[in-house]
Amino acid sequence: MIIISLKVEKKEKLKGKVSIPGDKSISHRAVILSSLAKGKSKIEGFLESEDCLSTVKAFRNLGVEIKKESSNQYIVKGVGLNGLKEPDNILDCCNSGTTMRLMLGLLSAQNFYSILTGDDSLRARPMERIIKPLTRMGAHIWSREGGYAPLSIMGSNLTGIDYKMPVASAQVKSAILLAGLYSDQSVKIVEPALSRDHTERMLAGFGINIKKEGHHIILPADNNRKLHPQEFVVPGDISSAAFLISAGLITNNSQILIKDVGINPTRTGFLEVVEKMGGQIKLLNRREVSGEPIADIEVKSSQLHGIEIAGELIPKMIDEIPIIAVLASQADGVTVIKDAGELRVKETDRIRAIVSQLSRLGVKMEEFRDGMIIKGPNQIKGGISVKSFGDHRIAMSLAVAGLVAEKELTITNSRVINTSFPGFKETLFSLS
Ligand code: S3P
Repeated sequence: MIIISLKVEKKEKLKGKVSIPGDKSISHRAVILSSLAKGKSKIEGFLESEDCLSTVKAFRNLGVEIKKESSNQYIVKGVGLNGLKEPDNILDCCNSGTTMRLMLGLLSAQNFYSILTGDDSLRARPMERIIKPLTRMGAHIWSREGGYAPLSIMGSNLTGIDYKMPVASAQVKSAILLAGLYSDQSVKIVEPALSRDHTERMLAGFGINIKKEGHHIILPADNNRKLHPQEFVVPGDISSAAFLISAGLITNNSQILIKDVGINPTRTGFLEVVEKMGGQIKLLNRREVSGEPIADIEVKSSQLHGIEIAGELIPKMIDEIPIIAVLASQADGVTVIKDAGELRVKETDRIRAIVSQLSRLGVKMEEFRDGMIIKGPNQIKGGISVKSFGDHRIAMSLAVAGLVAEKELTITNSRVINTSFPGFKETLFSLS
C-alpha cells in the first residue's frame, strides 16, 4: 500500500471563491431513499467520496440500478420498499459508519439474509446502540461479542417502537426510522438533544408522513407507505466548509467566499461557536434546495478568543470539534470543550488524536474524559510529521494548523481525506 503524505506550509494570505463537495450525510440518504422510491430519481451534487460510494455499492449489490450520468450526478432506478434483493455476498461498508448503521435498520426489515462488515476502524465502532432498539422492534441481528461488526441480519417483520434514545445520534435515529418504514405501527423517537434531521426532512420530501415536534419524531401508523421518486440537489457540506472557514479565520490578510453551503440549523453549531469566538463570518444569499437551507459563507481573518463549548451545542457540531481545537489553539485565552465523549467512538478516538498531535506542535492543551482544554494563543511549530490516525477530519484539521506553522508540516496517511472531501488539497491550495 502506498502511504500518501500531505505537506503544508505557512500562508501569508488566502483569497478567493470556492465551491465545496456535496454533503456526506445527505448524499448517503439521497441514495438510500431514492433506492426505496419506485422509479427514477436524480441526484445532483452527490458527494463522490469513498464513504458515499460504499453506500452506492451496497445498493447495487441489493439489486438497485445506479448510474453515474456525469460528475456528481447520479440516476437511481428505485425498486420500491419491497423490491430489494438478497445480496450474493457480504456488504462491505469500508470506513463508513453511516452506511453500516443506516443499512442495519433497513436490512432488518427485508425478507432475506445479509451480512455487513467494514474496515478495522468500523469493526471497532459500537453497533449495540442500533442493535438494541432494532431488536426491540423484532429484528434478528448477530454481532461479535460487545456489539461489533461483522453483523449478520436475518430480515423479519418489525413492530413499531416508542424509544427514548440514550445518545443524540442521527445514525441511530435514522436506522430506527428506516426500519420503521416497514412496520404498520407507529414509531416514536425522543432525542436527548437535537441531532442532524436530514432523514426526517428527506422522508417528508419523498412523500412519507412524518412529524417532528422539538425532540420528538413520529412516524404515524400506516400500512401503505410509499416513497415517490425525486430530483434531488445535495447542498455543499458544512462539515467540509468548516476546514476552509477555519483556514480563512486563522491566516492573516484572508477573505474567502464558500458557495452553496448547507446551513441546516441542526448542523450549524460550528458557525455559532465561531461567532462566539469573535470570527468574522457572513451568511449571504440564503435560500433553500431540496428541503435544506443553504447560503454562501464569507470569511475574513479574525482574532479569536477562547470560549466554553458544551451541552446541546455538541451534537450540532460533533464532526467539527477537531477543527475547533485548531481554532482554539490560535485564540486568546482558554477554550473548554465538554460533553463530547462521543468523539472517542468516531473513526478514531478524536479527543486523543487531536490533543496528541497538536501538543506535538507546541499547543498547550489537555484531554479529559469527555473533552479538552486548550490554552491560546500558540505558535504552531511544524517541521515534523503528524499522524492522521486514518481519520479524514484529523488529517484536514492538522493541514489547516499547518497554514500557520513556523515550518513545513507533513500529515502522514492523508489519503484518508478522500473519505469525505475529495479535492481538499486542490481547493485549499487554490486560495492564494
Ligand atoms: C452522521 C451522524 C453523526 C456524524 C457522522 C454522520 C449521519 O454520527 O458524526 O459523521 O450522517 O447521520 P452519530 O450519529 O454517531 O452522532
